[in-house]
Amino acid sequence: MLKLAVLASGRGSNLQALIEAIDAGELDAGIVGVFSDKAASGALVIARTAGIPALHIDPKAHASRAAFDAALFAAVDACGAELIVCAGFMRILSPEVVAARTSRMINIHPSLLPKYPGLHTHQRALDAGDREHGASVHAVIPALDAGPLIAQTRIAIDPADSPESLAARLLPREHQLLLQVVRWIAAGRLRFDAQAVHFDERRLSEPLRVG
Ligand code: GRF
Repeated sequence: MLKLAVLASGRGSNLQALIEAIDAGELDAGIVGVFSDKAASGALVIARTAGIPALHIDPKAHASRAAFDAALFAAVDACGAELIVCAGFMRILSPEVVAARTSRMINIHPSLLPKYPGLHTHQRALDAGDREHGASVHAVIPALDAGPLIAQTRIAIDPADSPESLAARLLPREHQLLLQVVRWIAAGRLRFDAQAVHFDERRLSEPLRVG
């Protein structure tokens, strides 16, 4: 059973999807801890409801980014996590903590990276007149929303779409994407580092497609 730590700042729907898949026997993993920089994060409520250890670590209680990151990852390491899943974790992490964990930390981002790292991805895809949008899971490296791409899911943009309608249509596909990637990792089919992603021992030249 693959031990997961989930880092989240917001709502926690990706966490909820992971919990439901584990409970349904569809994902051979266990969530050993949920960590948030926001006390009001829905993810903390979801974790506590599910009986998963949940910890708020307050950035304001730490003198520097490095001190916060050290506290956060001391707690993550203490719970024995083998894979760290960033699911809407809205803080930039310092290069030291990321570099030490590149082969076991993933992030889900709501755009077809390398397009639109950062915020407001749905609006930016609409503003650019894109006909396709999607979400990506990638290995985390010491740069924002960068790192080797593992897998993507794609949806068509409708001319009538708003950022809200696009986000709503993409969200279930994000969940499906994240679950599939975690399943592949749990099954030992997927490995990655700061340079490359290997699937079934073959180096990927483009991200896997889900959905
Ligand atoms: C998702 O859109 C994810 O791709 C992005 O932040 C959002 C998190 O949603 N990084 P939730 O908190 O899992 O509901």
